[in-house]
Amino acid sequence: MARILKPNEENLRDVRKFLRLGELVAIPTETVYGLAANALDAEACAKIFAAKERPTNDPLICHVSSYDALDRFCKPNDASKTLADAFWPGPLTFILPKKPIIPDIVTAGLDSIAVRSPNHPVFRQIIEGCDFPLAAPSANPFAYISPTMAAHVQANLGDRIDYILDGGPCELGVESTIIDLRNPRDPKVLRYGALPIEKIENALKRRLERPNPNQPEITIAPGTLPSHYSPRTTLELRSKSVQEEELATSDRSIVYLLLRKPSHTLSNNIHWLSEKGELETIAAKLYAKLRELDDGGYAKIIAEEAPELGLGLAINDRLRRAAFK
Ligand code: TXA
Ligand code: MG
Repeated sequence: MARILKPNEENLRDVRKFLRLGELVAIPTETVYGLAANALDAEACAKIFAAKERPTNDPLICHVSSYDALDRFCKPNDASKTLADAFWPGPLTFILPKKPIIPDIVTAGLDSIAVRSPNHPVFRQIIEGCDFPLAAPSANPFAYISPTMAAHVQANLGDRIDYILDGGPCELGVESTIIDLRNPRDPKVLRYGALPIEKIENALKRRLERPNPNQPEITIAPGTLPSHYSPRTTLELRSKSVQEEELATSDRSIVYLLLRKPSHTLSNNIHWLSEKGELETIAAKLYAKLRELDDGGYAKIIAEEAPELGLGLAINDRLRRAAFK
């Protein structure tokens, strides 16, 4: 079992030391828990791939303390400056041309690198005391549901890593939005995430090319595979709200995951992510709820899709990958 550490001064100091020595530590961010290692240490980063059983062609995000730290690792541009001014620290990741100081294992041999500056107070206390960036994918076994609590990391990776820093439940609950800025004149959304793309479009004063859900660009973002974030239980998606009639007569071996609380029918196999359909709450609770239902021994999970805008795009992206077989 991994040791779960409270974020007090002594433990924070120890965690910085473990990272400097090439150890892995699971650390909370505002999106999901990340499995962190010193991004300048190729051997340490290799341990991330081994612990997650992640294919080595799937590159890692490098986390930095501030925009100014970027020059050492990559080549920022006007577009990244505008977006960092508006949204960093926060749930937005840039793809930029990389510099040689970053080992190939981190970027899977690509000549670009994914960078972000997280906004979680515990993550910030760690990174501000390190003189290296932190490579950190979500702290889940490859292709399983991402962790939003220390207990999720313990359940899946507890026998493969030594330390989990406990920062409580993640506030946002879905991963960062990823935007390809290699060509600043042609920014592309690679992954919908916790920062709604409408906000990015406003900041850049232009419309962005959006990912096609039927044709994920596996060559550009190797990790955005059609099947991901997946529970073991079969997941069926509904594009329309499930009617009360269906809930009232439902087979108890099937569990429902609704966007909002139903008005009449309440039973053990009916779960909801928010009272009234607020997208922030739905995103924050999504992964924890999927895990809970996945462990519930049900034959099938039936989940409702969110509206196709704002955070709903990220929620639906995760649900569709989770449902993909
Ligand atoms: O919110 C987040 O982004 C979390 C927290 C821990 O920061 N991290 C996260 O990392 O979601 P991960 O590894 O689970 O997802 C990163 C995605 C992968 O799909 C990967 O393929 C893509 O970013 N990626 C990384 N480097 C890339 C690059 N140079 N070009 C294109 N895609 C890249
Ligand atoms: Mg992930």
